[in-house]
Amino acid sequence: MCGIVAYAGTKNALSILLDGLQRLEYRGYDSAGIFISNPKKDAVLKVKGKVNELRLLCDKETKEELFPIGLGHTRWATHGKPNESNAHPHVSNNKELILVHNGIIENYETLKKDLIQRGYTFESDTDSEVLINLFEEIQKTQQVSLEAAVQIGLNKVIGAYGIVVFDKKKPHELIVARLGSPLAIGIGKNDFFVGSDATPFLEHTKEVVYLNDFEMARLSFGEDIQVSNFKENTQIKAIINQLTFDLEHIQKDGFDHFMLKEIFEQPKAIENSLRGRIDLLKEEVQLDSVQKHESIFKNTKRIIILGCGTSWHAGLVGEYLLEKFTRIPTEVEYASEFRYRDPIIHKDDLVIPISQSGETADTMAALKLAKDRGAFIFGICNVVGSSISRETDSGMYTHAGPEIGVASTKAFTTQITVLILLSLKIAALRNTIQASESKRLLDELIQIPDLISSFLKQISEIKEIAKIYHKASNMLYLGRGFNFPVALEGALKLKEISYIHAEGYPAAEMKHGPIALIDKEMPVIVIATKKGHYDKIVSNVQEIRSRGAKIISIVSSGDESIKKMSDHCIEIPESDEIFSPLFATIPLQLLSYYIAILRNCNVDQPRNLAKSVTVE
Ligand code: F6R
Repeated sequence: MCGIVAYAGTKNALSILLDGLQRLEYRGYDSAGIFISNPKKDAVLKVKGKVNELRLLCDKETKEELFPIGLGHTRWATHGKPNESNAHPHVSNNKELILVHNGIIENYETLKKDLIQRGYTFESDTDSEVLINLFEEIQKTQQVSLEAAVQIGLNKVIGAYGIVVFDKKKPHELIVARLGSPLAIGIGKNDFFVGSDATPFLEHTKEVVYLNDFEMARLSFGEDIQVSNFKENTQIKAIINQLTFDLEHIQKDGFDHFMLKEIFEQPKAIENSLRGRIDLLKEEVQLDSVQKHESIFKNTKRIIILGCGTSWHAGLVGEYLLEKFTRIPTEVEYASEFRYRDPIIHKDDLVIPISQSGETADTMAALKLAKDRGAFIFGICNVVGSSISRETDSGMYTHAGPEIGVASTKAFTTQITVLILLSLKIAALRNTIQASESKRLLDELIQIPDLISSFLKQISEIKEIAKIYHKASNMLYLGRGFNFPVALEGALKLKEISYIHAEGYPAAEMKHGPIALIDKEMPVIVIATKKGHYDKIVSNVQEIRSRGAKIISIVSSGDESIKKMSDHCIEIPESDEIFSPLFATIPLQLLSYYIAILRNCNVDQPRNLAKSVTVE
């Protein structure tokens, strides 16, 4: 769960590495480091902390020299504390080889013991330093190039990795390899770029090669990229993809934080999720990814949705949608639990992993387990070309665009949008929905981006509510039906960026225990939209009001009953109940955001978190 950047060419690697690392900080930010080299000098520079601190150190140490090749790394600790010696790059004992690594080497202890017996010493507690010394040992004992040593070495290694390696004896060459951790290679006119994703080199090239598992590449200045399979020791033709997003997509666009920018991007993101997927003339959902496998969707007996965190919450909304429209029994599983509990999987199960990053280790492992047992895998991912998307039999991208803020926002609403389309499509295939009902819903669905845009223009009351409650120690979020997962998501957003303890509950569960928590100090956020259990939730609000709680309600515009019972009320557009999560989530995201700002929290990089969790 780290970010990797590398460069080989004629430009100055130093600025490319530092800018690139800054863009990759969402992958981890507890320490950072670079290696840079030119014919006269090379240097490894590392800091505990963020890339800005590394930049300051580089300014001091490098004095405007040109370094045409280099590697960089921003770390999220897995083995060993976040400190300078554990920061990457790591250098081999003979000081000739340099490595940056993202992932985990599971058998590093065995490998390390063997290397220690052969006289190697280690400066860090990391598994990565074992890897670079393993390559040195193979080079030494087998008298081979670094490329060959990496190929041989990786076949001894168990684990996940994206690596870039440099050998001082070949000062114009980088060796990169991946198994389980993403790596993108940018092909410039006269140079090569490497990144954990393409964001570090967007302004330099639009041509990118995504390495697949078990692939490695030699990037030698003045030559074409050479890709091979290190398991089978075979050459592979590099497939060059064209990037379709620009740098401005990943900049803040004048917003103070990526999270806020991404909240405001939701109308566009939802529009992009819908784009090309609704036949406006026939008013039906068009999904080739489903149509191509029609018999699977028609005949499946059970759907299992897999995900973690916010994606799991979207999965819960998906369960309600799929059961309502398709009448197929649907289960939602935490990927981390599913993968270790020997689940029952049938060959006619349809398994839907949901992941924004497409790199979450638990979701990936759960998907692989289901696939090995014969289920059909239909993925829902945001990052195109991500590891999960490449493991699936079919699937849909959410097309939300890059999500940089660690707290997921537009990923959630676009996942729900895709799940709505998928449910309606499967229902149409199975004849479990009337065409007129589907048309009515699609008509409403295509209006949603505009309605959210209008809502986002009037958010001053949310800021006021944040001012009143930002010092709270606890908050409760309640919802029913489609809005129960929204309550969970609202609570998660508050926890992760403001560090206020928050819980989401189905509103009716209050009286089975949590109501004991309620006193005058406790703000309770109730999602109570008009359609869907409205009368029931009115009773729930009365129960908590009579115990003195402060009530902040999210209601459909024009609501009177709940408004009267609430201390504060946020009106969202009235909609069919299936769409209410798309609206109700947004004030909750904003409330968390403004509360976190008032508490001086680092919204885009909350403590202890990283954007994609590529370790279990
Ligand atoms: C919360 C959040 C996380 C992710 C989770 C899964 O705001 O971002 O809970 O939702 O780590 O990540 P993906 O969707 O990338 O698999």
